[in-house]
Amino acid sequence: MNNNKKMVEHLQQYGVISSEKVARVMETIDRALFVPDRTPAYADCPQEIGYNATISAPHMHATCLQLLEEKLQPGMHALDVGSGTGYLTACFAMLVGPQGRAIGVEHIPELVASSINNIEKSAAAPLLKKGSLSMHVGDGREGWPECAPYDAIHVGAAAPEMPQALLDQLKPGGRMVIPVGNIFQDLKVVDKNPDGSISIRSESSVRYVPLTSRDAQLQS
Ligand SMILES: C[S@@+](CC[C@H](N)C(=O)[O-])C[C@H]1O[C@@H](n2cnc3c(N)ncnc32)[C@H](O)[C@@H]1O
Repeated sequence: MNNNKKMVEHLQQYGVISSEKVARVMETIDRALFVPDRTPAYADCPQEIGYNATISAPHMHATCLQLLEEKLQPGMHALDVGSGTGYLTACFAMLVGPQGRAIGVEHIPELVASSINNIEKSAAAPLLKKGSLSMHVGDGREGWPECAPYDAIHVGAAAPEMPQALLDQLKPGGRMVIPVGNIFQDLKVVDKNPDGSISIRSESSVRYVPLTSRDAQLQS
């Protein structure tokens, strides 16, 4: 697997990507710009990025983009909690466009700094410059209230239980995709109905690093 387009084609052939829109955005944002040097960028597995964190595997990025696709229309607001390398936040920004907002929140300041460097080399750079895409240091369990409510929330680390602040920041009609659990985790799809009630289903079993405090992560 030696280029980004081939990685996307491979995910299409294996039925992971069925959406043209998701295929196009993953082609546009080159994964190689987001992984550390000498890392096999296009292999379908997570890769170490330091600080006991990983960039998620391409098939997980594709799955989450597809689950959220309807809530990533131009002009919509998207929050990426545990934004790590910034890859998925950049994809969100491309989909919601310059009239939308894509916010990344990550609690390791060094990862936020490198995610900004990564994005500056990518097709999402103009959106970062104009401010529709922004990356922040913070505890993602608290969300990012300044730009709430969100049509789409993605959580890139496993929460021991559903964070109330994130449920509160979801717009009626909005959707959150979040891994929940400790050792055994389920990828949950959380829909906030127009009347404010919540519907939750499990998409699949997954394995993510924990959504935790910075100290706990650095000591793990
Ligand atoms: C699987 S990794 C990165 C995922 C990201 N989607 C990517 O592919 O680059 C999960 C990230 O969540 C971050 N994280 C864990 N707990 C957090 C918290 N409480 N607040 C913000 N970020 C957190 C970790 O530092 C890590 O970068």
